[in-house]
Amino acid sequence: MKKILITGGAGFIGCHVVKLFVEKYPTYTIFNLDALTYAGNLENLRDIEDAPNYHFIKGDITDESFINELFDSHQFDAVIHLAAESHVDRSIMDPLGFVRTNVMGTAVLLNAARRTWKHADGKLFYHVSTDEVYGSLGEEGFFTEETPYDPRSPYSASKASSDHLVSAYHHTYNLPVVVSNCSNNYGSYQFPEKLLPLMINNIVHSKPLPVYGKGDNVRDWLWVEDHARAIDVIFHNGRLGQTYNIGGFNEWKNIDIVHLLCSIMDQKLGRAEGESAKLITFVKDRAGHDKRYAIDATKLNEELGWKPSLQFQEGLEKTVDWYLANTTWVENVTSGAYKHFYEQQYVQR
Ligand code: NAD
Ligand code: TYD
Repeated sequence: MKKILITGGAGFIGCHVVKLFVEKYPTYTIFNLDALTYAGNLENLRDIEDAPNYHFIKGDITDESFINELFDSHQFDAVIHLAAESHVDRSIMDPLGFVRTNVMGTAVLLNAARRTWKHADGKLFYHVSTDEVYGSLGEEGFFTEETPYDPRSPYSASKASSDHLVSAYHHTYNLPVVVSNCSNNYGSYQFPEKLLPLMINNIVHSKPLPVYGKGDNVRDWLWVEDHARAIDVIFHNGRLGQTYNIGGFNEWKNIDIVHLLCSIMDQKLGRAEGESAKLITFVKDRAGHDKRYAIDATKLNEELGWKPSLQFQEGLEKTVDWYLANTTWVENVTSGAYKHFYEQQYVQR
């Protein structure tokens, strides 16, 4: 019997984590706290919204008095903290918004947990973070848990700050914490501003496919449900005060991934091979664009037995199938604030 607060559960990764916990652990009560920003959609949780062990709470993690009252009234056993502003391009346009949510919001939650958890037994504050805190790699090497932090975008700097606060609360107040740093996720319910869903959506509508710079930046892609499984494993068996890297051992240059996607979608949409690739448009590079991310997930594999379950091509096809079958979801989530943002960005390029 556990009462778990999951923050950001209406977002891309959060909805997969909430679903996994609600379905796999019927004796746990899951409270999903989400502000429902442009990136949070309750449509993502239709499958489990009526489950008896699931409750949604609309609220902002930066609202200190609200968060303190919430912790006082519910006496959570654990927190899995995913709520964040998550898109690098937005962080370049609005860095302070990222500091507010990612740094202040995390501090408010940590403080509420510290205040409420007089006895740390059985309690856990699980902080979900990113590999982007480690900075940018050259041609060789991987990020390990020992790699020094070197964040370069306002997004990664805000996440790095939040990771440091989590560590500080552990060392200073003995708060029981665990942190994971994961590589780029892909899969269903990802807001179509990130590379893969943006490209899928643009291919469907025969719109230009904006590849930043030369398209030679490298990312390490992981199926979102494998990330959720890793969170489950670390939540239950991770050692307190530890960090675990999560990654797919699956590096791709952006341009290669876009070509693969074009070819998969030509087939699925009944287009001639090469038709979608004609939409590829090289645009101005992202400011401070990190060259390469690659995670060494050996610790998680050897200590807790986790490894990715899906081959990338299979995961990408499943992802494309999901977006093609869920065009209404795409229309609904892109018809609000995002639309304005997207148009603004496009004008600038
Ligand atoms: P997302 O942008 O899809 O979802 C974020 C969620 O947080 C949304 O539901 C949003 O409404 C909510 N939120 C934002 N501000 C809030 C606030 N002030 N109060 C309450 N809720 C708020 O993000 P995501 O891609 O699902 O990422 C989730 C977490 O995982 C983030 O912490 C991110 O840094 C981390 N992460 C993401 C990736 C990735 O590839 N997407 C990789 C590694 C780590
Ligand atoms: P993104 O999905 O924004 O994730 P992150 O920046 O957190 O890694 O971008 C993935 C890669 O794709 C990154 O190198 C930037 C690049 N990119 C494009 O080339 N075009 C785009 O329209 C977007 C959104 C990203």
